[in-house]
Amino acid sequence: MTFQPQIIAGNWKMNLTVSQGLVFVDRLLAVLKGRELSRKLILAPNFTSLQPLATACRGSVIEIAAQNCSEHEAGAFTGETSIAMLKDAGAAYVLIGHSERRHIFGESDALLAAKLKVVITEGLVPILCVGETLEQRLQGDAVTVVTRQLTEALAGFSGSQLLVAYEPVWAIGTGETATPDDARQMHAEIRKFLRAEFTWGDEVPILYGGSAKPGNAAELLAQPEVNGLLVGGAALDPESFLQIAEV
Ligand code: PGA
Repeated sequence: MTFQPQIIAGNWKMNLTVSQGLVFVDRLLAVLKGRELSRKLILAPNFTSLQPLATACRGSVIEIAAQNCSEHEAGAFTGETSIAMLKDAGAAYVLIGHSERRHIFGESDALLAAKLKVVITEGLVPILCVGETLEQRLQGDAVTVVTRQLTEALAGFSGSQLLVAYEPVWAIGTGETATPDDARQMHAEIRKFLRAEFTWGDEVPILYGGSAKPGNAAELLAQPEVNGLLVGGAALDPESFLQIAEV
């Protein structure tokens, strides 16, 4: 389906300080001033930058996402950040289950389901990330793995808004990009799952992530069911992020 507007989301990971983030956003807003951008922009900075960036972007086309959250609503969880805190800081979205959270920090599908539950309770919009490893793809298990991740994370999901990001692990930060065909096929599978699961499954934007950059963005965005991009490395520079937003 053709999905409008397409979404370009930048995941800064553990990069850019508050002051660097503000310089980035100033540049973005200056370039975008007075322009009609057909795409929606989201930036996911680290926790300390959420509030200053949300304030700087208020009233603009840029919305703010957090990169992670606690599965608890509040309490004695030193070092954790609750959804209520993210919302209060100005985040509208939160990434759930980014592959670095799954693989470096060992987040399980059950934990992600618990996080999705608090996200919904507190009224933020989750961006659920799914994706197979290279080994799983080579074994022909890519669709099974992604479907299982969706099934387990979304078990009992009672929200009415969701974004899904397909991020093949082997393509993240490696310079390897899924071919437009790989992306098209997996996005079609994800759409099939979402349609079967939710009456509003057609309305869920499905983003592609994994070494998306100015040189491959147009081709990826032209694939059916690729409703946007989740960009890591190429979102750290305002000029390349803008190029992707405008391809
Ligand atoms: P990358 O990261 O664009 O640097 O591959 C994407 C992501 O991890 O969201």
